[in-house]
Amino acid sequence: MCGIVGYIGKANAKEIIVEGLRRLEYRGYDSAGIALYRNGKIETRKHVGELKNLEKIIADPEYDSYMGIGHTRWATHGVPSDINAHPHSNSDNTITVVHNGIIENFLELRRMLEEEHNVVFRSDTDTEVIAHLISLYYDGDLHEAVNKAVAKMRGAYAIAVICASEPDKIIGVRKDAPLVAGIGEGCNFLASDIPAFLRYVRRVIFLENNETVVVTREKITIYDENNEQVEREPYHVDWDVDAAEKGGYPFFMMKEIHEQPKALADTLKRRLDENGDIVLDGISLAREDIDRLSRIYIVACGTAYHAGLVGKYVIEKMTRIPVEVDVASEFRYRDPYVDENTLFIAISQSGETQDTLAALREAKGKGARILSVVNVVGSSVARESDDVFYTWAGPEIAVASTKAYVTQLMCMYMIGLYMGRLKGTLAEADYHDTIRELLAVPDKLAAFLEDDTQIKNLAKRFYRRNEMFYIGRGLDSTVAYEGSLKMKEISYINTFAIAAGELKHGTIALVEEGTLFITLATQDKLFEKMLSNIEEIRARGAYVVAVAKEGNREIETKADEVIYIPSCPDDLTPLLSVVPLQLFAYHVADARKNNIDKPRNLAKSVTVE
Ligand code: F6R
Repeated sequence: MCGIVGYIGKANAKEIIVEGLRRLEYRGYDSAGIALYRNGKIETRKHVGELKNLEKIIADPEYDSYMGIGHTRWATHGVPSDINAHPHSNSDNTITVVHNGIIENFLELRRMLEEEHNVVFRSDTDTEVIAHLISLYYDGDLHEAVNKAVAKMRGAYAIAVICASEPDKIIGVRKDAPLVAGIGEGCNFLASDIPAFLRYVRRVIFLENNETVVVTREKITIYDENNEQVEREPYHVDWDVDAAEKGGYPFFMMKEIHEQPKALADTLKRRLDENGDIVLDGISLAREDIDRLSRIYIVACGTAYHAGLVGKYVIEKMTRIPVEVDVASEFRYRDPYVDENTLFIAISQSGETQDTLAALREAKGKGARILSVVNVVGSSVARESDDVFYTWAGPEIAVASTKAYVTQLMCMYMIGLYMGRLKGTLAEADYHDTIRELLAVPDKLAAFLEDDTQIKNLAKRFYRRNEMFYIGRGLDSTVAYEGSLKMKEISYINTFAIAAGELKHGTIALVEEGTLFITLATQDKLFEKMLSNIEEIRARGAYVVAVAKEGNREIETKADEVIYIPSCPDDLTPLLSVVPLQLFAYHVADARKNNIDKPRNLAKSVTVE
């Protein structure tokens, strides 16, 4: 995720800002930049790639100041490049901005600035729009111009702005993206995240949504959305830098589990217009393209493959086009039937997985149209695809994938909804009902995440086990596979997942007194069948932990313990039911004292075959 750092004081701003950016590196980024006020001007330097690339081009001692802003970028609009890196400025470089988040109406604003004000844009970013917009309203009062610009901007963002004519201040705005000010002695800070300035100050002021902050050397003044001044007590930070990077969580995996509601909301809401219509930015799938399709392949590896399994259910159901899912390492070598009427959907968090890339090339070579669902902008899979549907999960640092998976699921629903509606195989009412239910998921998930005591206690009881079984039917079976993989990779326990109906064809021979079964029973239409499966294994001595929908109390008569997830339609349960399984794996691994973020033998991105 992008990082913002601002400093105003008496010390060497360049060094302080670069140190702050270094402290934000853990969040992941693809380019970095800095803008300093010098000799009546704002001088910006930026570079794609690692921070050390930026450091090389700002090394000269003359490039220095007492104030400036810096940024690490995680691309959302426009590929990672020097030009698209932040900061961005207005045409005469007198107003400069860094920005986290997304401006949803940036195209509309860009068009207005180009057509009505002859603005010439230098980058592909939504951020540049902000600089030109503030410039349009600037009439000697930066604060007022920022307020006017913000009133025109839709989206979730945090920004920091400086102006060559008012070099005594940095202005920040927070709207649904974090921004925090740090209070120093004769200096002050602004950042997207506390670690950026924790080395220098411990007293901080958290901004609330829709607040603006004016940071000068002497004071920090907060304004609410009505431009009324707000008083706020500073907060004293007593965590160390390491804990701060993880947002106070002991491991990135737990932080990322808790980021899921936001990641889901970002992936969905930013692509819905005010009528609830899905706007697939950058994807040109027209009705005639969809009508031509005779089959869809979804190809991926590991967790991304499990997201593809959900994709098969929902896309096939909504579009009535046959969908096949394959692991990439199999697809690429089995001479699959692919032609120009094939849509090939690659799913990859990193966009660099060698097998997925090779499968994509195989399908492309045979004439398929390639749509990828990718988290990392500008990655190889994204670059080699005809269309890219980005998951907006932000950087995922823990090796075990969590937030990328749920956002991949969200993309599967959105692709199904979009194509099904256009093709006419999905009724309007069903489309709108599903969108409404999807919109409700982030809050339901946030409520579920408030208390994980039950799951933690379960982990304390079972962490010494050598094996665990995961079962489910329909969509629940796909979540069983993912829950089992999560447990395996971070706890090193031998787990096995199987569609519950398949148990009796062999695997049930393994059940004995006390065998632990994690049983998903969230599908109303398959509920009775699942109860029979639970009876089958309990009769042979299994201990059954069930995951079921809230309100479905009948399960308590069959299972030994039940974890309830918030209620939602059957088709959407994977978005919620995977979370207790992620938490269970996490707490088991924690009880076993494993290095949760970096499990043995695994790498975050598998770039070899
Ligand atoms: C498991 C996990 C892996 C990845 C797989 C594909 O938690 O993260 O199974 O899902 O290696 O990686 P991407 O999505 O980067 O292609």
